[in-house]
Amino acid sequence: MWEQRAAVTVFTLMVCVWGGVAEDCSYASLFKHLNLNNKTDSQVHLRPVRNWTTPTVVRVNMVVYGIIEVNEKAQTFTVQTWRSTEWKNEFLSWDPKRFCGIWVMGVPRGMMWVPDIYIHEDTSDNGATLYSRHLQLLYDGSVTSMAKGELKAICQMNLYHFPVDVQRCNISFGPFSLFGIAIAQLSDGTFLTNLSETHMATNGEWEMTRIAVYSGFDTYNEIKVPRLNYQITLKRRPMLYIINCILPLFYFLMLDVGTFFISEARGEKLSLKVTLLLSISVLLLILQDILPSTSDQLPLIALYSIIIFSLMALSLMEAMLVSFLIDLDSCPAKPEPAPSCVVTETQMEAPQAEPSEEKPEEEQGEKEAHQDLFLLTLILKEVKSVRQEVPSEVSPGDRKLGFYSRLAVKIDVTFFWVYVIANVLFLVYIFALWTLV
Ligand SMILES: *[C@@H]1O[C@H](CO)[C@@H](O)[C@H](O)[C@H]1NC(C)=O
Ligand SMILES: *[C@@H]1O[C@H](CO)[C@@H](O)[C@H](O)[C@H]1NC(C)=O
Ligand SMILES: *[C@@H]1O[C@H](CO)[C@@H](O)[C@H](O)[C@H]1NC(C)=O
Ligand SMILES: *[C@@H]1O[C@H](CO)[C@@H](O)[C@H](O)[C@H]1NC(C)=O
Repeated sequence: MWEQRAAVTVFTLMVCVWGGVAEDCSYASLFKHLNLNNKTDSQVHLRPVRNWTTPTVVRVNMVVYGIIEVNEKAQTFTVQTWRSTEWKNEFLSWDPKRFCGIWVMGVPRGMMWVPDIYIHEDTSDNGATLYSRHLQLLYDGSVTSMAKGELKAICQMNLYHFPVDVQRCNISFGPFSLFGIAIAQLSDGTFLTNLSETHMATNGEWEMTRIAVYSGFDTYNEIKVPRLNYQITLKRRPMLYIINCILPLFYFLMLDVGTFFISEARGEKLSLKVTLLLSISVLLLILQDILPSTSDQLPLIALYSIIIFSLMALSLMEAMLVSFLIDLDSCPAKPEPAPSCVVTETQMEAPQAEPSEEKPEEEQGEKEAHQDLFLLTLILKEVKSVRQEVPSEVSPGDRKLGFYSRLAVKIDVTFFWVYVIANVLFLVYIFALWTLV
């Protein structure tokens, strides 16, 4: 029993192998059958249709699996893509049953006609794209070509909402030849979005939220040329910019409001305000590196920083004015200061007296010099006495009574409230604009 069975199995096995060889299940026989080994120019260069009026439909698929870079200044973005194009070759088909069920075969690129499709927005050199060395040929004549690689494409970006912006970039496929080729999508946008999301290899500043596919036409001289448009929606993750730029600017503004409460030490108040302004200019420099100078509409973040800068500059000027007014009050221009007036009068007299008497005779000049010396020591004494008197006059009651001081306080209080209200209104307005994308 056992031996018989074994013999039967061995026999059937041998038949199978023998039969296989006899039928020739190699790709080579199919290759020969399709007359691909006899490569003719017409096979490679001419569009493979039996009736020239039949258009060749090229179906395109694109999956984005990495966002390498988005360059706002150059208005380009670089993505890792995987692309496949599929079309039909009407001359190359076979019956799989006659060839051991071979239903797909790899044929070297260059042995068959390939449509010349290009990407309108592409700015990368072709070295970055890797094309499959073989085209996949299906038994019904469908040919698939694969390509993967880095695609650098131009994209007009709108940076109005800058750190919370969403960019929609197009990658559109079109044929070089104006006739005979139609372009269609192989899969719909939701499928591609899903595929791209599951294969996404990068997790950087940008997040790809959607791929949508549109097909349309370009018109050149009344000739309609098909165009397949992949619209990629990229969303920026704004946290870094909020922490690095928007929040510090906001805090500087709050600090500036805080400086109004440092009223007495005027020098410190001014220098603090100047320091805050300088810190903002550093932030503005950082911002200048990111934003393109060519944008038509001023980005909100630029508006935000420039208005904060102006508000703080305004408050700095107000602080200067107030300190100037207070200084006006604390020095001269009062009814009382008899000693200081005397001093100025004697000072005025002294230089006038010197030249008039020095000119005639030198002997008299010596005597006058002694008198001058006496006069100078007198002046010195007077000045010293004035110096001792002035602080005692100013410190107790005069500051409150001084006209300019009172004016300064009024201006300071009014400006403070106007400033606070302006800040609140401005912040509410700009954050409303920002969030209502
Ligand atoms: C190649 O094809 C041409 C025309 O189809 C034919 O005349 C020629 O014999 C073929 N050569 C071979 C080697 O099959
Ligand atoms: C080619 O296609 C056109 C339009 O489809 C048709 O009118 C014509 O008869 C076809 N020619 C042949 C030889 O099949
Ligand atoms: C991208 O394609 C869409 C749909 O065709 C079009 O409406 C839009 O203007 C294109 N955007 C750019 C920047 O070309
Ligand atoms: C993506 O596709 C997978 C498998 O087909 C499915 O399980 C998943 O729910 C899809 N996700 C979305 C967001 O459509």
